[in-house]
Amino acid sequence: MIIAIDGPAASGKGTLAKRLAAHLGLPHLDTGLLYRAVGRAAIDGGIDLEDADATAEIADGLDVASLDESRLRGREMGEAASVVASHPKVRKALLDLQRRFAHQRGGAVLDGRDIGTVIAPGAEVKIFVTADAEIRARRRHLELEKRGDAPPFASVLADIRKRDARDAGRADAPLKPAPDAHVLDTTALDVESAFAAALAFVERHRH
Ligand code: CDP
Ligand code: CDP
Repeated sequence: MIIAIDGPAASGKGTLAKRLAAHLGLPHLDTGLLYRAVGRAAIDGGIDLEDADATAEIADGLDVASLDESRLRGREMGEAASVVASHPKVRKALLDLQRRFAHQRGGAVLDGRDIGTVIAPGAEVKIFVTADAEIRARRRHLELEKRGDAPPFASVLADIRKRDARDAGRADAPLKPAPDAHVLDTTALDVESAFAAALAFVERHRH
């Protein structure tokens, strides 16, 4: 069973994907980390994020086994990831490894922006997690506070809006629900309730 979880920044898709994977005993891939890693390596190497060829080369050589999540979660990495993710060549370079992960024996849970639309359009379960931008910004702000890396709330909200617009507006694999995705609005749901709702949906689609 492939479970595809997509949605905008800080909608809770990663938390949900992790919980579902642990509960169902399935491997989980946070595909946002791949784009974050490309952004990080470009910045570290002094490479222009707008340079599609150079960033695609980084994506081609990405060593998934050595992704250091703690260095990729920062605020500026989300922005850098979204810039490199707008290059079709970068997306193409990361396609095979994501498809292989999705189609491994026994199934998998993947979360990102284009899992249900591009990576695994045949996934048995597709959930598009969303929430109002203000709520998402509040969640992200809280996380950044815990990391000791919190800018003013207004700038977190502005970042989220800007990133949503870039992700939804790009030509290649834009952020949008697959036609057959179940939309889960978590605006008024805590982590536990979102998990319960998603699990009920998964159980209905299990054969
Ligand atoms: O956790 P958050 O939603 O803030 O970010 P993320 O999932 O780590 O993704 C960072 C950026 O990578 C997104 O803003 C997208 O531009 C890009 N991304 C993508 O294009 N496709 C994916 N499957 C996953 C992430
Ligand atoms: O992966 P994505 O960027 O969509 O979001 P996340 O990193 O999973 O979640 C962002 C924050 O929202 C985390 O601190 C969660 O604890 C919190 N949250 C959630 O994930 N789901 C809810 N229904 C409510 C809050």
